[in-house]
Amino acid sequence: MPLILAIESSCDETAVALLRGEPGRAPSVLASLVASQIELHRQFGGVVPELASRNHSLHLHALVEQALRLAAVRVGDIDAFAATTGPGLASSLLIGSTAAKALACASQRPFLAINHLEGHLLSPFVGESQVPPHLALIVSGGHTLLLDVAAAGRYIKLGGTRDDAAGEAFDKVGKMLGLPYPGGPEIEILARDGNPGAYAFPRSMLHDGHLDFSFSGLKTAVLYTLQREAGNACPADVAASFQQAVIDILVGKTLAAAHHCGRRKVALSGGVSLNQPLRGAFTETCERAGLDLVLTPPSLCTDNAAMIGFAALLRHFAGESSPLNGDIHPHLPFL
Ligand code: KG4
Ligand code: ZN
Repeated sequence: MPLILAIESSCDETAVALLRGEPGRAPSVLASLVASQIELHRQFGGVVPELASRNHSLHLHALVEQALRLAAVRVGDIDAFAATTGPGLASSLLIGSTAAKALACASQRPFLAINHLEGHLLSPFVGESQVPPHLALIVSGGHTLLLDVAAAGRYIKLGGTRDDAAGEAFDKVGKMLGLPYPGGPEIEILARDGNPGAYAFPRSMLHDGHLDFSFSGLKTAVLYTLQREAGNACPADVAASFQQAVIDILVGKTLAAAHHCGRRKVALSGGVSLNQPLRGAFTETCERAGLDLVLTPPSLCTDNAAMIGFAALLRHFAGESSPLNGDIHPHLPFL
């Protein structure tokens, strides 16, 4: 059974995974390790690319060794090496992809260049024997995407954000509220004590008849509210009202997309899909609409290498490989 080693280093998480699988069977994730740099970047209020790449190169080797030990395999047992090659921070992508290429070259095994977004897209199905036809919503720090998925590798883009990504809006509003980076999980915690109906923030483009998103108007509305109330706004109410607006937009657009493409299964992935009220709203709405909902397991929502390994495994089964002289693509579009 093919064994894949995958590396993810597109932003501030250094991650290594080992997966073994065969076509038509759920793969075994033998190891999935993530060395988070969140604490390091927090003091700067966001990711510092130079620091991120330095730390990838400092920690990657040890992480690969640890994954091999955990899975009780040797480098010589690995059938293919994969890495994220885009989109992401150039200097971060280079570390992981160069390491995977070097391992592939030394072992004379194929290298697979994986699109980070395909990793997120497939992450709800890492424990499954196949990727069923479905409507996918990816909500991460860099992307908000709706895709019609016929099968692994057969994707049609239905909509995306025209400005900020959902996670980016969470992080920027978090900053406005004086919360630590990343703002997403902090807003979720603060919002627990707030009233989601306290402020009527805009649900931009919700009923515009297309499947694109816009979050910059919402972000600006929060800023103006905070300025207008000059220190008197209740932060928990602002957080809860903002979060509710994001949830309404994501749920509304996803339902419209499912209706548009006729899919009865909806899958949610990406860092923002960790948000419990969002998961709850999707669960309720899909149940009411008779749609089958697949939520990504929490450990696979934020950046990880298991999702990259799963995408690579499926491409390996399809006989694909990537050239060793291929470049990284920081702005790689998904489709
Ligand atoms: O998928 P991810 O790890 O990285 C990208 O590919 O961008 O997503 C990170 C994003 C950040 O914007 C973070 O604030 C957001 O996911 N996030 C959340 C939560 N946990 C992480 N947003 C809302 N609620 C959360 N609980
Ligand atoms: Zn990601």
